[in-house]
Amino acid sequence: MTKPRLYITRKLPEHIVGEYRQYFDIKMWPYEEKSIERKTLMEESQKSDAIVSMLTDELDKDFFMRMKQLKVVANFAVGYDNIDVKAAKQQGIIVTNTPDVLTETTADLTFGLLLSTARRIVEASDYVKKDKWKNWSPFLLAGTDVHHKKIGIVGMGRIGEAVARRAQGFEMEIVYYNRSRKRHAEESLGATYLSFDNLLEQADYVVCLAPLSEETKNLFNKNAFKRMKQSAIFINASRGQVVNENHLYEALMQGEIRGAGLDVYTEEPIRNTHPLLALDQVICLPHIGSASIETREAMAQLCLENIRLVIQGKEPKTPVFN
Ligand code: DGY
Repeated sequence: MTKPRLYITRKLPEHIVGEYRQYFDIKMWPYEEKSIERKTLMEESQKSDAIVSMLTDELDKDFFMRMKQLKVVANFAVGYDNIDVKAAKQQGIIVTNTPDVLTETTADLTFGLLLSTARRIVEASDYVKKDKWKNWSPFLLAGTDVHHKKIGIVGMGRIGEAVARRAQGFEMEIVYYNRSRKRHAEESLGATYLSFDNLLEQADYVVCLAPLSEETKNLFNKNAFKRMKQSAIFINASRGQVVNENHLYEALMQGEIRGAGLDVYTEEPIRNTHPLLALDQVICLPHIGSASIETREAMAQLCLENIRLVIQGKEPKTPVFN
């Protein structure tokens, strides 16, 4: 009997994939760093029963309309704004993502980015490595405190709560804004719900973890930055399109906010001539929120498990819709 065909759009480790060869005829894009081209993605997906997709693969309406054999798409990310979920549903194709397994790792990175931006850690490391350190001085590379400050979390989902738990350890005051009230976060973490505008006005650290949607696109624009404290630090670990990068640049240049720590961008990879990259008070990471070996392996495993379940006629563990 021929096995169902599974295509993986980026090279994943064989010690994870290997186990699934007993269930599937597995084909894989051979590169780890290079994205699959649209044409190959189309051709391979058309011949497959299942695919593991990456956040760099745009699975739009046109893609789904052309699929006759495909039954399930397992997206290797918790965010799935790269997928036209409505079109998938119309075609009867199941879509899954990777929540939970990446929560703590992404929260670690988000809080690390906050600490690094506040305490100018990257700048300070460069200072030493570039042989600029000639003497100790009282205010050399002095940053701003994190402990006992107010953190404002925009998007209090699983990762938001995990960041709030870390903030508790630094005895920070936690405020949040979310589409709906999160009683659990209020009761267990002592987080206070604020309107978006009030959060912007009060927080020392504004941390964006809201998923990208029509509602959140360009949420952080000129008006939002103007409302923030001049001493505020802005952190973005969700999706780049939630921020208007030109407005962020202007706000930093005008001194409307103190600094920014970014893991995500409107266009990825961000071009190296982008003006944000020239600012010392901005830390830029290459979208590594969930990038620990353990978590990336767990994400791969969850994608493959979801696919196995769907192909065997069972419920996937983490569907994005029912
Ligand atoms: C996600 O899972 O959506 C992250 O952005 C990947 O690191």
